[in-house]
Amino acid sequence: MDPAPRPRTPKRRTRLIVLAVLVLLAVAAFAIMWRPAIEAQTAAPVFDAATIERGQRLAMVGTCAACHTIDPSRPYAGGFALATPFGTVHSTNITPDARTGIGQWSEAAFTRALREGVSRDGHLLYPAFPYDHYTKLAQDDIRAMYAYFMTRPALEAPAHQNAMTFPFGFRPLVAFWNILYLKREPWQPVAGQSAEWNRGAYLSVALAHCTACHTPRTKLGGTDFSRHLDGGEAEGWYVPALNEHNPSPIPWTRDHLAEYLRTGIAPDHAVAGGPMQASVENLRLADPKDIDAIATYIHSYLAKAPPRRTRAAMPGSLPAPTANDPDLQRMQLGYSVYANSCARCHDVGRDATSGAALQLQKAVALYDPDPRSLIHIVVEGIAPPDGEPARWMPGFATILTDEQTGALAAYLRRYGAGQPQWEHIEDQVKKAKQP
Ligand code: HEC
Ligand code: HEC
Ligand code: HEC
Repeated sequence: MDPAPRPRTPKRRTRLIVLAVLVLLAVAAFAIMWRPAIEAQTAAPVFDAATIERGQRLAMVGTCAACHTIDPSRPYAGGFALATPFGTVHSTNITPDARTGIGQWSEAAFTRALREGVSRDGHLLYPAFPYDHYTKLAQDDIRAMYAYFMTRPALEAPAHQNAMTFPFGFRPLVAFWNILYLKREPWQPVAGQSAEWNRGAYLSVALAHCTACHTPRTKLGGTDFSRHLDGGEAEGWYVPALNEHNPSPIPWTRDHLAEYLRTGIAPDHAVAGGPMQASVENLRLADPKDIDAIATYIHSYLAKAPPRRTRAAMPGSLPAPTANDPDLQRMQLGYSVYANSCARCHDVGRDATSGAALQLQKAVALYDPDPRSLIHIVVEGIAPPDGEPARWMPGFATILTDEQTGALAAYLRRYGAGQPQWEHIEDQVKKAKQP
């Protein structure tokens, strides 16, 4: 055996090959995705009031403010930090400020950003900005939103530094993602479906990007088109499936769904919490006819979910654990937390003007395939979307220990939902409490 030199040469060769391939890939990415800057527009464009108003309504369906507005007194100034598996991306200023916003953008530049994910100066935008959905928008709708944004107050707000994990700070890599996931085909209505259904399909997929959260993603962060509306995740919350796998214990009607989208609250269903709340805050300002269309389209999938429980099987308060429970000690701890901290509000049933809330057997978070959303709700509390100050749930982050929170989740899962136990509850509690 002569150990030293022989393995070295192939190793070095492999390294050289890897390096060459990487350089080639980078060059190819540049070549495929290089886009020129679009010239600055100097003359201020003029728009008619009807177009601006239509654009405003559409921007509410697109929930642009959910990501581009942090401070309501500075609308669309950007700066919202979006945590992605590839690092933290900040939304940018889309007010018409000439230096730090989109004041010098022509309609062509705005269109290219929405359709192709390319900024005016030619750099590739990260898909945290859902241009893979907006790419299907009709030009007329893009034009109306352009009119709306170009007539907002111009605010100075320079872009924040992003914190991407290596190598994703190198923007041309997005070119590969675009090849895989950016399907630049125009919207096609489905033959045989009603005009309202098709309007709803267009709005849900291309503009409201419901599927961006409610459909699972691949390892590379692209939408898994083969599992339409099959549930996903957003900001550490589980996002319920809206197809035949919808976990809701009581079936959704189309009208309740429309009410939920307009107000964030509907009879027999949990309020819109977490990232869904931000969506609803925008949707409520959209054209009500458009919300009805979205409800019609989404409900055509939701209606395939089998009913899980009937209202009659849901008395107010939850029972104490049975003596033969295999996990009796933990269940007893969970039950005592429930009885002391939750029952007084949740056993009563929802009442518009008091703190009383939905019976927990009806809360979808107990039926999710994992406990993330339930733990977020318990740790952070919920401000009801209708703004009624009396109806407000406090957060229990500092009131309950991790052990109590975990036992509570396990108890609610078994005695509230009657579902098989979740795994890794304690890990999720720790995660939710991290700042
Ligand atoms: C889910 C969050 C999210 C939503 C919703 C969203 N954006 Fe963005 N947007 C971003 C992020 C993040 C960036 C910055 C991406 C980057 O720098 O790579 C961005 C960038 C942009 C840009 C490019 C600005 C520039 O200077 O390059 C435009 C234009 C834009 N968004 C318009 C919109 C419009 C119009 C809507 C609504 C129809 C919208 N966005 C909705 C997150 C979002
Ligand atoms: C002061 C009253 C109050 C207490 C105490 C309280 N909640 Fe809530 N909870 C609310 C309100 C109000 C809502 C939102 C509005 C609604 O459901 O009508 C809510 C919402 C929820 C939801 C989302 C589903 C829904 O009802 O919309 C869950 C899950 C939940 N609470 C669990 C708990 C648990 C577990 C505890 C005990 C640790 C608890 N809550 C304690 C008032 C309370
Ligand atoms: C930013 C991510 C995000 C977007 C975009 C989004 N959702 Fe959601 N949605 C969520 C999350 C998270 C929940 C779970 C909320 C909870 O547990 O309180 C949810 C809950 C729901 C529910 C309740 C499900 C149930 O069975 O209780 C419905 C219905 C729903 N969303 C419909 C929609 C529709 C329709 C759209 C598009 C117009 C949409 N969502 C867009 C994140 C999102």
